[in-house]
Amino acid sequence: MAETAISRLPSDRPPLVCVQGLGFVGAAMCLALASARDATGAPCYRVAGLELDTPLGRERATVLDSGRFPFAAMDPALAEAAAAAHATGTLAAGTDPEILARADVIVVNVGLDVETPEDAPPRAAMAGFLAGVREIARRMRPNALVVIETTVPPGTTSRVVAPLLAEGLAARGLPADAFLLAHAYERVMPGPDYLRSITHFWRCYAGHTEAAAATCADFLARFIDTVAFPLTRLSSTVASETAKIMENSYRAVTIAMMEEWGRFAEAAGIDLFEVIDAIRMRPTHANMRTPGFGVGGYCLTKDPLFAGIAARDILGLGDMAFPFAEQAVAINAVMPLVSVTRIAEVLGGLDGKRLLLMGVSYRGDVADTRSSASADFLRAAEARGATVTPHDPLVREWPELGLTIAVALPDPAGFDAVVMAVDHRAYRSLDFPAWLGAARPLIFDANRVLSAAQRASLAAIGAPLASIGRGDDR
Ligand SMILES: NC(=O)c1ccc[n+]([C@@H]2O[C@H](COP(=O)([O-])OP(=O)(O)OC[C@H]3O[C@@H](n4cnc5c(N)ncnc54)[C@H](O)[C@@H]3O)[C@@H](O)[C@H]2O)c1
Repeated sequence: MAETAISRLPSDRPPLVCVQGLGFVGAAMCLALASARDATGAPCYRVAGLELDTPLGRERATVLDSGRFPFAAMDPALAEAAAAAHATGTLAAGTDPEILARADVIVVNVGLDVETPEDAPPRAAMAGFLAGVREIARRMRPNALVVIETTVPPGTTSRVVAPLLAEGLAARGLPADAFLLAHAYERVMPGPDYLRSITHFWRCYAGHTEAAAATCADFLARFIDTVAFPLTRLSSTVASETAKIMENSYRAVTIAMMEEWGRFAEAAGIDLFEVIDAIRMRPTHANMRTPGFGVGGYCLTKDPLFAGIAARDILGLGDMAFPFAEQAVAINAVMPLVSVTRIAEVLGGLDGKRLLLMGVSYRGDVADTRSSASADFLRAAEARGATVTPHDPLVREWPELGLTIAVALPDPAGFDAVVMAVDHRAYRSLDFPAWLGAARPLIFDANRVLSAAQRASLAAIGAPLASIGRGDDR
């Protein structure tokens, strides 16, 4: 741990928050905390980011400790906050878990994955999360606040974390109930408003005890604008954990529902986006989703499965069916193959065809490639004989495929199709006629990336166009 940065702050004040896990959530959370100021303009917290002593963990901690945000991000506020935290000495990061012993507040932001074995129901891959909780239990100060931000199967905070903390404290000869435990889930949105999506957004939380709930509310109110975005307290941590996975399941289900309508629109020769925009005029239907390229990222691909896992493995409710949630995950997982099939139809097969894949991150204007639909698309298209060249304005290394991606847009000549997969800002402002020159590959808009003006410019030069969710292209 970079002690020097922490010891630059006077005495033991302000309180020390340790953020365990410096991924896409934890690293941004460190900056939200380090930027928090009280009414006199003084820092509310000293912040210590804690990572695993692995090459990835060391790299993330070292970068953050040096005053930089460890991920490529569109939001300039992150770089500014990281530099400011470094300059004022409010933030340090490292890999020595002994820092946990000094923390007044510990925020858990390590991942918790789902395993989907072929011959058994999905289960939570808890080992890393549990190891992190045990590290806390071995070292935490009595009565420190522990906030679980990790997305967990409902029941985890009260039935798994609380007993581990009690056991750890008792083993050290301390009262087994000397902890304040809460669940307060993240709705952070990596993208142009990454940092503000933590500090200026509604937050739900619940305490394992009354005292924990009150202490957690006080903690959240110091770095979140709770006047404009009031906190929502739920009556138990199981309810708060359920809120997180249910809100992500709702989104996953409504996206999955659009896949069949997209295929219908393509076959019927209509524009489903026009249809959806008309329906959205009804306030009750204003957030209807649209068809697209696929659902990636770390959350919607796994969170809907946590309900069944919780019922079976944590809450002892046996096998409960969640057909909507499970179907949604299954449909969303194969969505990129719909684009593969459609392009093959338009090009008359994929064998020997060259495809330019525009966008490899899971969402527009983010650099996170985990569970991205582009990876599934690339693998499926290459299995059918195509050669796929990926491009992305924000991603230089694509770790899941072991590929390095060039910054410059490739020359379009020689490609049979350009697949607009991710709605990055750089693609939404691309001047197609200037870039294409004399080349006329199929432009395949898989994700409603193209604006009406871009479509018109393509039509004007006679470029062939096809789209997911639209059967009205030429
Ligand atoms: N990514 C998002 O947009 C998002 C949004 C809302 C909620 N969430 C949830 O937040 C949680 C974290 O997500 P993420 O995207 O930041 O994950 P991530 O995988 O990017 O980061 C987790 C980090 O925790 C570290 N870690 C693991 N065990 C540790 C330990 N014992 N001590 C210290 N560090 C440890 C890992 O090395 C890793 O860097 C997940 O539960 C996720 O579902 C994510």
